[in-house]
Amino acid sequence: MAKFALSGKNPLQGEIEVRGSKNAVLKVFASSILFNKPILVKNAPLVSDVFKMGDLIKGLGGKIERQGERTFKIFGNKTDSFSLDKEISKHLRSSIVLLGPLLARFKKVNFVYPGGCVIGKRPIDFFLNGFSKMGAKIKENGESFAMSTKELKGAEIFFRERSVTATEALMMAAVSAKGKTILRNAAQEPEVKHLADFLADSGARIKGAGTSVIEIEGFGDKIFKGLNPREEKREFMTPSDRIEAGSFAVLGALLGKNLVIRKIIPEELSSVLACFDQIGIRYELGKNWLRISKADKIAGLNLKTEPYPGFPTDLQPIFAVLLTQAKGESLIFETVFEGRLEYINELNRMGAKIMLCDPHRIIINGPTSLKGREMESPDLRAGLAFTLSALIAEGKSVIHNIEHIDRGYEKIDERLQKIGAKIKRISQ
Ligand code: EPU
Repeated sequence: MAKFALSGKNPLQGEIEVRGSKNAVLKVFASSILFNKPILVKNAPLVSDVFKMGDLIKGLGGKIERQGERTFKIFGNKTDSFSLDKEISKHLRSSIVLLGPLLARFKKVNFVYPGGCVIGKRPIDFFLNGFSKMGAKIKENGESFAMSTKELKGAEIFFRERSVTATEALMMAAVSAKGKTILRNAAQEPEVKHLADFLADSGARIKGAGTSVIEIEGFGDKIFKGLNPREEKREFMTPSDRIEAGSFAVLGALLGKNLVIRKIIPEELSSVLACFDQIGIRYELGKNWLRISKADKIAGLNLKTEPYPGFPTDLQPIFAVLLTQAKGESLIFETVFEGRLEYINELNRMGAKIMLCDPHRIIINGPTSLKGREMESPDLRAGLAFTLSALIAEGKSVIHNIEHIDRGYEKIDERLQKIGAKIKRISQ
């Protein structure tokens, strides 16, 4: 198990580049199973979740060739099995998006309840109900499921809540279904649109991705002829990760000295920048960069996480660290996941004043000065929040379980060192 040793209060300066979006690239890897030719994915972030998704595809018989540092050629067309590796799936929530393409290719799929970050119950009912509406029969045996169908049929599916992965999995299945599928109350996250645009470029008939109603005209039996256009159309250039960009922006507001964050997509950061504007954090925004320095004064904020374009739940713990430095009272209302506030105990042990009001709400009183300590990263985003808190704290900290952080942030220690952070990886 590896850990980070950090010491705080060092200004961060120079430039840092945002890597490709983890949550976009994972779904594009999965979509390779819909094609009868390989696809090429460029600018993939080198994070463990992406490698695990690659391992899942290889476990199904697919092939992956690395063609450059961040370029992967994925032969999802070579898959010859419809049973997902149990051990990997138990550690990767996004394994569930593979159900759509596997059902499309084999009309069958065996899988287990997917695991991943422990941030709430994370049910899979939207997937099961959706596939069942499209004609799949589902058998459950403890934690294992077997799904099969003679033919996927287009269907009208309404999501009780907006779910990113359920929208993506059903959208991919619908590409191969017979007839039209309409997804209502669909997730509008940019990752859904990036996937839809990639598939549409390759010939899929998808309309409305990025809005709450997505319509897909399926290919039925002709799926492998349908998704078979020119080679250059089977290339996906992974767009930048909006959560990493937002995390770096917060880091800049806490410790920056003219810190420049490169390769951002400003439009995807709108909710973050609106918060900055409201609480007095200044920044300079270019076409695809942001310059930011430590804010003199930060005001308190009432923050509510929401599906896109609202404020992202994945930045919620990171903003909690920011708000420990804000003057007065802040409220965070986490509406997406019911188990994503547990990290506050650790921040309180560092000196923060955060009160849990109910499982969804916390009140933060600030500013407080934090003191370094030894902590355990509970999940990916809280792990990065602890990294930020250690970097603004007095003295030294150690963060254990950094495997969680490596799931979504590529070599974060080396990249933060380059801008002046005192952070060292210790492998045991
Ligand atoms: N939900 C259900 N039933 C379902 C599916 C979801 O009730 O069958 C509920 C969830 O319990 C939750 C809400 O719907 O309350 C939204 O969950 P969603 O399905 O959108 O989450 P997800 O698709 O599993 C993706 C990202 C998460 C991100 C959320 C919200 C991927 C691989 N994961 O998760 O990213 O927090 O959308 O934007 O795309 C992360 O990267 O750290 C991460 C957790």
